[in-house]
Amino acid sequence: MFKIKIVAYIIAFILLGCQPKKKNKEERVEVEKEENVVLNSRYQKLLDYPVDSLSFPRSADSLGQIKKVPSGDWTSGFFAGNLWQLYQLTEEQEYRDKAQQWTVFIEKEKLNGKSHDVGFKVFCSFGNGLEVNPENKHYQKVVVKAANTLASRYSDKVKSIRSWDFNKKQWQFPVIIDNMMNLELLFEAAKIAKDSTFYEIAVNHANTTLKNHFRENNSTFHVVDYDSLSGNIHEKVTHQGFNDSSSWARGQAWAIYGFTMAYRYTQNERYLNQAKATVKFFINHKNLPEDGIPYWDFNDPDIPQAPRDVSAATVVASGLLELYTYTQEEPFLAYAEKVLHTLNSKEYLLKTENEIPFIFKHSTGNYPKNDEIDVPIVYADYYYLEALLRKKKFNL
Ligand code: GLY
Repeated sequence: MFKIKIVAYIIAFILLGCQPKKKNKEERVEVEKEENVVLNSRYQKLLDYPVDSLSFPRSADSLGQIKKVPSGDWTSGFFAGNLWQLYQLTEEQEYRDKAQQWTVFIEKEKLNGKSHDVGFKVFCSFGNGLEVNPENKHYQKVVVKAANTLASRYSDKVKSIRSWDFNKKQWQFPVIIDNMMNLELLFEAAKIAKDSTFYEIAVNHANTTLKNHFRENNSTFHVVDYDSLSGNIHEKVTHQGFNDSSSWARGQAWAIYGFTMAYRYTQNERYLNQAKATVKFFINHKNLPEDGIPYWDFNDPDIPQAPRDVSAATVVASGLLELYTYTQEEPFLAYAEKVLHTLNSKEYLLKTENEIPFIFKHSTGNYPKNDEIDVPIVYADYYYLEALLRKKKFNL
């Protein structure tokens, strides 16, 4: 008996000795402090970036070269949005001043009806300005004008907004799942202008998307192309995903966020149910890595070597913080918190000494075009900052 006890002690000693030492509470607080120092140093880089109406920072390549774009690019509103959100998080005036300067450069986009992206551009900049000062009449007018421009792309035959004009040989009336995000501009413009037409267009678009974009398993197609005369569906395909039947991670994210937001304005339970179902597809997927940051497409055969997409994770995290307030489903809050925790780490944060105006590494823009793969991208930062603000706002 005595011998057995000795052997048991020896085995326990070896096993415990081999386990990685767990950090105690004080050590964990220290690590978190260090990570927050890095995070705050990243915020400063956005202030340091020189103001230039033609050079909105969009992403950086693996050599640290910044991809700078004009206001016409679909991502132009995010940088101003980041500064507006940093002002709200820090209450430091410098962020507000810079946010205002960058926002001015986007105003002309209110008349650019070449794609549905007028919503991303104007609402992520002017819309955030209105969060800070809801009474700003000029910003309100810009939002309403931009909503008019977006509404001009609506077809009552298709009952949708046309997303893109390119690729006319293949597509007549392409609608992409991303388009759900632009409905926020319409819902807000309906309130500002007291014009229910914007609301009706947004609701019709959401209903058509609900009917045609989702698969049996609640994942979403990227592009649904319609016949513009009859409104019938031509094809359901992808543009940025691995293939037509794959689940492009950011597409799933736009769907989750978009239907949660549409529920906020309409209280339509069908929108809420779709958002919940698509979240479940996403967070329970066998190919979602343990740290919560998805591969760029859930069906890339290169998984686990495939690149990740931080932007998809931050869009979902921000969307889920809102969805949690409607559903109280704990796994939704748990996923959002996991993402925020994962990102605040050396693996994902850019180093303090890196001067580019971004916060996180490891996003993927357009994999099939070999464009912006595993790099910092402005909209990943945007939805992360929004998630931080939502945590505060909802007291989560
Ligand atoms: N069109 C926006 C995106 O790349 O997700």
